[in-house]
Amino acid sequence: MTERCQGDTRPRTGPRARTAIVLAAAALLAATSVAFLPGTASAGTTLGASAAEKGRYFGTAVAASRLSDGNYTTILNREFNSVTPENEMKIDATEPQQGRFSYGAAEQIVNHARSRGMSVRGHTLAWHSQQPSWMESMSGSALRSAMLNHVTQVATHFRGQVVAWDVVNEAFEDGTSGARRNSNLQRTGNDWIEAAFRAARAADPGAKLCYNDYNTDNWTHAKTQAVYNMVRDFKSRGVPIDCVGFQSHFNNDSPYVSNYRTTLSSFAALGVDVQVTELDIQGAPAATYRSVVEDCLAVARCNGVTVWGIRDSDSWRASQTPLLFNSSGQKKAAYDAVLAALNNGTTPTDPPTTPPTTPPTTPPSGSCTATLQDSTRWGDRFNSQVTVSGASNWTVVVAVTPPQKVSNTWNGTPTWDSSGNVMTMRSNGSGNVFGFTTMANGTWTRPVVRSCTAS
Ligand code: XIL
Repeated sequence: MTERCQGDTRPRTGPRARTAIVLAAAALLAATSVAFLPGTASAGTTLGASAAEKGRYFGTAVAASRLSDGNYTTILNREFNSVTPENEMKIDATEPQQGRFSYGAAEQIVNHARSRGMSVRGHTLAWHSQQPSWMESMSGSALRSAMLNHVTQVATHFRGQVVAWDVVNEAFEDGTSGARRNSNLQRTGNDWIEAAFRAARAADPGAKLCYNDYNTDNWTHAKTQAVYNMVRDFKSRGVPIDCVGFQSHFNNDSPYVSNYRTTLSSFAALGVDVQVTELDIQGAPAATYRSVVEDCLAVARCNGVTVWGIRDSDSWRASQTPLLFNSSGQKKAAYDAVLAALNNGTTPTDPPTTPPTTPPTTPPSGSCTATLQDSTRWGDRFNSQVTVSGASNWTVVVAVTPPQKVSNTWNGTPTWDSSGNVMTMRSNGSGNVFGFTTMANGTWTRPVVRSCTAS
């Protein structure tokens, strides 16, 4: 099918001419057996691959206890390229007794994700809820130091493995006051949030540091404005904050509103990334899911969307059936709507850029050939796609130029050398085209394919 773009001035063709064009195109495809057509490779068939084509991730909350459920992990591994531990990184899980840290369940999720090329969002370092009892009963300077020590220990433990941390969760009150939530952490002094961010930055300088909250979706709400003012203040004073997470638990009491996109773009304009971190929608209306994804795609600094569970039966609000898969693991209408939104999504409104112009690299081949092609480019990052021919079980080594960093991959299983600049990608049954997103960090040199070996 041919698509017409805005501004397309070609004469419209009649039905007969169209048939001729379609037949000619089919014949051309058959004759050349093209292995790769930009935008039509296996990306586009799963949430993660489609999001990655747009330079974003599509994630889910994961419970360690469900990783032994084959139906669950099949969907997880097929559809998602980002993971947030649902409870396993919370304070009661990671420091059940003061000074005694417990990372087993969190590591299980992190290892599952990273060994399959999924990134990890860390959730959460400082929160009034799900505190262990020793912390619940603390106050004052003892609590402040215990909180900071917790942030430091946990962020240090997972340094380099978590792309973004929800450093502080839910610190504002609901309703019209715009005030901070009255919690034991708040009572240690109004500067507890910035102190937590500073401790997190020192412990893991490479992770993005987010503030995360709910009921902050409606741009006109006092709580949204209060968080906005805090972020603006942090940015103006150099408090290390990189992103804001919008939980986006939508239901009849707290519905999706059409100014959501304004909220995302207004925060982004402060110079932070925005992320939809815990999406679920009562009844899973397809149109609302679609709107949320379109809103994220319309904001260049919206990095991705995480749904808060895979199947309805995995949801913390299971009776609301708010997720993309039913309890048997079948795709719901909302799934189709999300995938369509990801595939039709608009390109972010970053300044126009010219893709790198060096010709495709064809490496010296063993028994396979890997060809790297430029794909979409944004203001801060770009996608590359690698097409492998001559082998179905392949291993391709790709190098990026420091300080570039690969932030996302799809359709392969990556491992890394100690520098983090050399990625070894292995086939994972998703076909012969894999892709990745490179954060430019100011350097736009094209990644290089070093080798392709068949195994
Ligand atoms: C929820 C989990 O999904 C439940 O399993 C747990 O019992 C309670 O917490 N906001 C957050 C999440 O930031 O951590 C919460 O997760 C949902 C609301």
